[in-house]
Amino acid sequence: MKAKKTYYIHTFGCQSNKSDSERIAGDYAARGYSEAKSWQECDDLIVNTCAIRQRAEHRARGFLHGVVVHFHKLGKQRPKIILTGCMVHHGYDKLYKMMPMVDEILPINEVGFNQAAIRKDKKHAWIPISTGCNSFCTYCIVPYSRGREQSRPFEEIMQEVERLVAEGYSEITLLGMNVNSWGLEKVGIGFRKMMMEHQEFTREDLPSNQSQYLTPEGIPPFVKLLRAVTAFDEIVKVRFMSSNPWDFHEELIAEVGKNKKIDRYVHLPVQSGSDAVLYRMNRGYTRQQYLDIVTKLRTADPEIVIGTDIIVGFPGETDEEFADTVDLAKQVDWKVGFVAMYSPRPGTASWKLYADDIPHKVKKKRWEILDQIINKDNLQERPIVV
Ligand code: 5AD
Ligand code: SF4
Repeated sequence: MKAKKTYYIHTFGCQSNKSDSERIAGDYAARGYSEAKSWQECDDLIVNTCAIRQRAEHRARGFLHGVVVHFHKLGKQRPKIILTGCMVHHGYDKLYKMMPMVDEILPINEVGFNQAAIRKDKKHAWIPISTGCNSFCTYCIVPYSRGREQSRPFEEIMQEVERLVAEGYSEITLLGMNVNSWGLEKVGIGFRKMMMEHQEFTREDLPSNQSQYLTPEGIPPFVKLLRAVTAFDEIVKVRFMSSNPWDFHEELIAEVGKNKKIDRYVHLPVQSGSDAVLYRMNRGYTRQQYLDIVTKLRTADPEIVIGTDIIVGFPGETDEEFADTVDLAKQVDWKVGFVAMYSPRPGTASWKLYADDIPHKVKKKRWEILDQIINKDNLQERPIVV
């Protein structure tokens, strides 16, 4: 009998990419492939890429270069290399030029929600509830790399939860770029058109993030979804990410407060503690509005802990503006902070509107200061947030 063909998936980036890789694995299995132990011994090597920062793209290119060198040294034929993930938005011509070793490109939106996932973990499962993003955060490549936001239908999500429960899973993470607005996205918005074709625009022309979603009437759909998922006796823990401050609805705060199956860790990216920087980022909330959510969450349940994402060195970030973020870090006392140095992504609004004018040395210093305060210093007493 002929040996089965094998595949290996190398994944860069966020949980959404890891979740997509599980579905790509499902697709290969359905086509009769088996998983190879490593990339050194597979027939098909799938590289699931991330484009969130320049460094992520460099790492993918470095990895592929390493693969080529490895097989060249051995004098062996290398596997077929298939590129997918967020770098695909660069377009085929540019990618084949950038990485000539790539044999095939797989657009990420061809990896459907319903392709059965192959999960390594037998207790905890990631479930995608939406793809893409309709928000207009100026620095972010995701709306281009992953396209328009599309919520997965309730029935489909619940069918997957039921299957997972039957298989013995007890912990679930609901995934999306903007989960709180699940089921509320507006369709057919001219985001791409405006960004790609409208050469001349100013910061004032950008629509707010909120304006890309419907205002929920009554209980937001995402809260209903959380209730439905946590209603299974077998499900003991539910997490969700990413959340955003502009649509962290009151009902969601109340639900997280009282529904103890929802993890007490809430990830709530702030990006900056300065209102002026938040405005340039088009985040659609102020520092005080962020603080209000933190206070309400902690009032709803003092056991809740909060983590965040922050970008340092955003264009034009002055010492005073950075000091506002440091001050916010001291006030909020996040449990964990993923601090990133601003990386201009070609095609995004901030890349078009602002020069990347903060020197790398300054970005690095600011990164170190925040990382120290949030992730290393252990504040003994949590300050009262007002
Ligand atoms: N430069 C630096 N960090 C970025 N992020 C997103 N885009 C950029 C960028 N262009 C960070 C944000 C986001 C996290 C996933 O990555 O903090 O929350
Ligand atoms: Fe990017 Fe903002 Fe969408 Fe998050 S919400 S993926 S930061 S555009």
